[in-house]
Amino acid sequence: MLKNVILVGFMGSGKSSIGRELSQKLGYPLIDTDALIVERAGKPIRKIFEEDGEPAFRDLESEILSALASNRPERRIIATGGGIVTRPENRGTLRSLGYVVWLVVSPAEILRRTSRSGERPLLNNDDPEETIGTLLAERQALYRETAHLNVETDGLTLTEITAGIVESARYHFANL
Ligand code: S3P
Repeated sequence: MLKNVILVGFMGSGKSSIGRELSQKLGYPLIDTDALIVERAGKPIRKIFEEDGEPAFRDLESEILSALASNRPERRIIATGGGIVTRPENRGTLRSLGYVVWLVVSPAEILRRTSRSGERPLLNNDDPEETIGTLLAERQALYRETAHLNVETDGLTLTEITAGIVESARYHFANL
């Protein structure tokens, strides 16, 4: 199995900040699939949604992930976009890349964290709370089916979450 740690979870679950922390702690470079998409498209995610629509964004996301996996990376932290699990082929690819960790977070905390930025096109509407509920209901089973580990993050510090993931990943890989 490839020795990477892959972070999945809803928008605002802390994938980027925990990814940075894990990257520092383990000395593994951080790869962020959203950043790769922006680089490839040459425009921000908000613009991709506006100009090309969500299906085009999902196509790009799947392409990026499959290109990433075909390079057989090792010793990387891979942070993903919250909707990457919605395409079935991505779920298999994520698991083939290594140890998949689902960062679980409550709807209230998601709302609190995501309301600060307008960079999430799916939540840029009159009732983001309702959208969060609907999307979570659609996606929860998909995160569960994709991940090797679930981490309930509410109430824990970045350091605590990261330490827990490092321990479990060590156990999973025998040694990192
Ligand atoms: C999305 C999550 C975003 C980004 C895009 C779509 C989603 O990433 O990929 O806006 O469908 O949940 P983050 O989870 O990093 O916000």
